[in-house]
Amino acid sequence: MSDALNRILKEITALREAARAGADAAAGAAAREAWRVKYLGRKSEFQNIGREIGALAAEEREAAGKAFNQLKNDLSALKEKLDGGAATRNGSPRGQNRADEAAADYTLPGVAPYVGALHPLTATYYEVAAFFAALGFGVAYGPEVEDDFHNFGALNFPPEHPSRDAQDTIYINDERLLRTHTSPVQIRVMMSQPPPLRVIVPGRCFRADAPDASHFPVFTQVEGLLVDRNVSLGDLKGTLAAFARYVFGPETKMLFVPHYFPFTEPSAEVHISCTVCRGAGCGTCGRTGWLEIAGAGMVHPNVFRNVGYDPEEWVGYAFGMGLERIAMLVYGINDIRLFYENDLRFTRQFG
Ligand code: DAH
Repeated sequence: MSDALNRILKEITALREAARAGADAAAGAAAREAWRVKYLGRKSEFQNIGREIGALAAEEREAAGKAFNQLKNDLSALKEKLDGGAATRNGSPRGQNRADEAAADYTLPGVAPYVGALHPLTATYYEVAAFFAALGFGVAYGPEVEDDFHNFGALNFPPEHPSRDAQDTIYINDERLLRTHTSPVQIRVMMSQPPPLRVIVPGRCFRADAPDASHFPVFTQVEGLLVDRNVSLGDLKGTLAAFARYVFGPETKMLFVPHYFPFTEPSAEVHISCTVCRGAGCGTCGRTGWLEIAGAGMVHPNVFRNVGYDPEEWVGYAFGMGLERIAMLVYGINDIRLFYENDLRFTRQFG
């Protein structure tokens, strides 16, 4: 054995020992990186030995190569152990790896980011809007602070008429009020464009109601208005029946109960078969089997006169539904106040 080979084998043994001791002592990311540079880096002794082996005579190269390969395997194993140890380090008892405590632990399960969800009222409105969009209805909006003319007068509520009292109005002053329904937007739409037209109007409404499970001073309606020639009550009924089946399921039945609204004639309350008991009678429907979801009717000729439409030429139907009511039935929500408490535990359940 030549001196050169002898020296190389000794170097290999010594390097292995040093690398082991170094790895045992390497605590912290910086120390591990220093270890890697020292024992596996481009200018490491390991690389030097490789070069020295290249200079050996051919017959000695095999023995040296074997020992060198073994060293290489050992160094890789040490490096892997160091890297693996780093990853699990934060899981070990506190205090052992002071330098590592601030380092990220890539092995812990991730914290899933919360991506958000639609508020159930928004989700319900999108459903409603999708149905009417398919029938060619556009969307219109109006102000939440209204005047008496749009909220009442033009809708054929006579001054001093008791029908105004049915809507417990929040007045701002003698002329301004928070709109009690979305119907005033019917007036705004008709006064700003000629017939024919079809729109839905989503919006917040306000009444001086004490909050309970089914009342809240703020609530949401979706109004509908269609004006055209040759429109009949049958069109209104067919449209709302199809709507009810779309939102509540194909087995849903609909009932028109005669009612009074100043701005429609005839007028009806729209009831659907109870979504809980399917008409048998239960607590949700007050044992009647039916639930009221909207008001509707044929637009009163006086309303057309008030906006400058000719009631001899134009006919229309209108409806107004309570969006909370519909969302409560769709999602099985039993208290209207939940919509407005901004409790994320509630709102995160939807969307
Ligand atoms: N605005 C009525 C309310 O809030 C609901 C309503 C009834 C709207 C009949 C309409 C309608 O458009 O035709 O009680």
